[in-house]
Order: sequence, then C-alpha cells, then structure tokens
Amino acid sequence: MNATPRRVEHLQTDKGSVPVYTTAVIEQPWSSYSATDHAVWAQLFRRQRELLVGRAEDEFLRTQDAMGMGEERIPKFDDLNRMLRARTGWELVGVEGLLPELTFFEHLAHRRFPVTWWIRRPEQLDYLSEPDLFHDLFGHVPLLMNPVFADYMQAYGQGGVRAHGFGPEALAQLTRLYWYTVEFGLIRTAAGLRIYGAGILSSKGESIYCLESAAPNRLGFELERIMRTRYRIDTYQKTYFVIDSYEALMEATRPDFAPIYARLAGQPTIPAGEVLDSDRVFHRGTGEGWSKDGDV
Ligand code: PHE
Ligand code: CO
Repeated sequence: MNATPRRVEHLQTDKGSVPVYTTAVIEQPWSSYSATDHAVWAQLFRRQRELLVGRAEDEFLRTQDAMGMGEERIPKFDDLNRMLRARTGWELVGVEGLLPELTFFEHLAHRRFPVTWWIRRPEQLDYLSEPDLFHDLFGHVPLLMNPVFADYMQAYGQGGVRAHGFGPEALAQLTRLYWYTVEFGLIRTAAGLRIYGAGILSSKGESIYCLESAAPNRLGFELERIMRTRYRIDTYQKTYFVIDSYEALMEATRPDFAPIYARLAGQPTIPAGEVLDSDRVFHRGTGEGWSKDGDV
C-alpha cells in the first residue's frame, strides 16, 4: 500500500490532454475528504436519483438503498465491502486513477473492483474525461451485488487476461464489449427499456438522451457485432445495445472467444452509428413502451 494517495488525472501537454496511468492500490483516505467533496457527492447523488427513477433498472436503485448509499456523505469503501464480500465475494480497492489494461483485468479476475478514491471538482459536475469516485461507486458498485452480473465481471477480467495473449485487435474487441455493456448497456424489462451501464447512470445528460432522444440507435445485443463496433469516448453514444437479462448476457459471453478472435481477425470494424440489415432495432411505440422489430 502507498502512503500518500495522489489524484491522478489527465495531463495537459503539447499533444493535448493525455491520460496518465497508475498501478498503486491505496487505502481510501476518507477523513481527508473536504466539505466540498461531500457536497459534490450530495449534489450528484440527489440529481441522479431523481432522474433515474423509471430510467435505471429497478434493482440498481433498490440495491443502492440497501447498501446505505445516500446523499449525506461519501460512502466508505470498508462499509460497502462488508456487504459485497458477504453477497458476492467482490471487494473494492482504492486506486489513484486509470489503471493499465492488464492490471485492471487482473483485479477483475480476482473479484476486486478498482475505485478511484477522489471525487470531481464542483466545476466538473457535468463532465470529466476519466472515472472518479462518483462514477465508480454510484454507477458500478450496485450491480456487483447481483450474483450473475458479479460473475460476468469476473469472467470479463479473466477473458481480458487471456485476450492479452491474442494481441491488440482481440483486446480492442473485448474493450468494445465492456463499453457497450458495463458502461453503456440498456436492458429490456417488463416495464420497458432501462439503463444498467455505469457510464450512463453517472451522467445526467446521457441518462435522458439514451432513452428519450430519437437520435441514437437501440439495437439487440449481438456479441460479434458489438466486438466489431467502434465507439466515441467524448460524446453521447450513437448506438446502445439492449440485453434481455444478465443471464442472457452471461450465456452469450460464456463461449471460448479464441475462435471468435480468429474469425474476426482482419474483418472491418463497424462505424459507431451504423445500422445493419441483420440488426434487431428497438422503436419507441405509440404508447409508453419500446418494442423490437418483429414484436407483436
Ligand atoms: N468467454 C470469454 C473468453 O473465452 C471470456 C469472457 C466472459 C469475456 C465474459 C467477456 C465476458 O475469453
Ligand atoms: Co466505468
């Protein structure tokens, strides 16, 4: 463990803003959070909770409550860890910022979820270019309490360690899968389309846009299609992929990816906004809900 946690953020250089990577695992310096830090948490928490009723998947909101996340103060990793360990065997580890890919995969493979210890500044409420404590805790942690999703995250980490041996193309394909599920996934529920991706859940604008805007595509989950689909990190997504359940996600990703990497090698990638003839498209119905092409 490191003695003094640092806040590792993008650096301004003559090449523009570049991400900085760190590997240290640190103790959450909870008593060093300022009143401003707690106020930023409170404001973001309140704002997102209001917005997410009826937009986020129900279990996500219920689990946040059950874990005792509230607007009063920044949660303590130790408190959350007691519940995580008991329920799914996951554990949060504090980090200073972005991790190198392999380090990140190895944490997940061992059921450790890296959480950035610091929270954004008041002037970064709506956007910052890397994960902070609010994104990681608010967005990612509740689903780690779901046994099926917990297994998916570990399997992903193990798959990532393996993918390293297959080279950069395989790694890019696996990263797209994470992006379009864990970060920007939508799920179909009896009540309609709901959000489960942490990148959306921690963003005010995208929480509304992903469900209400006519602009983006909402397509049925298709493993190899997703693995070929590029994405943008600096704007709202042009395409979201919809899963039917966490079980279905787990089943679809269970097969050995080695033959898939081999098959996809050298195939062209798909632009972020493109819709293919083979895609299953979700449309906003005349009533409240969403339906898929072919639904009656
Ligand atoms: N089944 C994948 C493999 O063989 C691992 C994986 C599981 C990847 C779940 C992503 C999600 O590599
Ligand atoms: Co994230």
